[in-house]
Amino acid sequence: MAGDADKLNARFAAGDAVRFTERPGGCVANLRVADHTAVVALQGAQVLSFVPGGLGEVLWLSPLARLGAGKAVRGGIPVCWPWFGPHPHEASKPAHGFVRARNWSVTEVAGDGDEARIALAFEDFDARLEALWPHKAALQIEVTLGETLRVALTTRNTGVAPFSLTQALHTYLRVGDIAEVRVEGLEGSPYIDQLQAGRVGKSSRPIVIDGEVDRIYQDTADRVCVHDGAKGRVIEITKTGSRSTVVWNPWIEKSVRLGDMGEDGYRRMVCVETANAGRDAVMLEPGARHTLSLAIRAHRG
Ligand code: BG6
Repeated sequence: MAGDADKLNARFAAGDAVRFTERPGGCVANLRVADHTAVVALQGAQVLSFVPGGLGEVLWLSPLARLGAGKAVRGGIPVCWPWFGPHPHEASKPAHGFVRARNWSVTEVAGDGDEARIALAFEDFDARLEALWPHKAALQIEVTLGETLRVALTTRNTGVAPFSLTQALHTYLRVGDIAEVRVEGLEGSPYIDQLQAGRVGKSSRPIVIDGEVDRIYQDTADRVCVHDGAKGRVIEITKTGSRSTVVWNPWIEKSVRLGDMGEDGYRRMVCVETANAGRDAVMLEPGARHTLSLAIRAHRG
């Protein structure tokens, strides 16, 4: 019997631009154009890898990450939706919402020599999900690979009542050594310090990370640069439809608690998350839509 990957390859036939393969626990789409590659899992519509030609892997993925384990995969770009972080009133509901651990459906693939693209949808708000979130929505994610990787998450309110939404494209960036990393672009933006009971802080300096960091920057500009001294590389993230940026590194003790960061994972990653979180929630009227998008590129520097 044909597996999911075979069926998807037969149905979408996008040649070398997008090929589906099976991995233990789930199916992934492999995007390729020129010498750039990306991998997108159907679970969570989660980008797992982005390698712009000659510049090495840009995303961090835990060596312990497993598809199909019924929980989020640690690394890549998890989609947090329709709430960011713990549920605002009910601690028993899953952190960062429920779409990151569920399978999405492929709706479109395309490749034209300059770009490779895949679109996935999540629309199946069955009775079980209603207990978690009593609204109706259609979600679409589009991942486009070229020299730059673009990810766009569109939410449409298909119900009869307005709802408010917090969300993130929770990007794990791979770095050579966290001790030589500088995050620029958030200077002067107020942040909610999640490690200090939500105290508000502000700094005029680029961020350096030498301990646990968990901050929701509000009213952020559309561009953040991660300078990675050890790799001699700069990763630039630009965004639209997002007013918050989350910067997160669990450091040592929290890594032990999380259990899936790998031995020295915290030294090799930093999350710069394109978000609408905290007071930057998005309100959607029936029929209205909102797109949260990011573009990531890397260059030597
Ligand atoms: C970050 C949050 O976005 O995600 C952190 O700011 C959280 O507080 C982290 O610990 C990881 O969350 P999870 O649910 O993927 O372990």
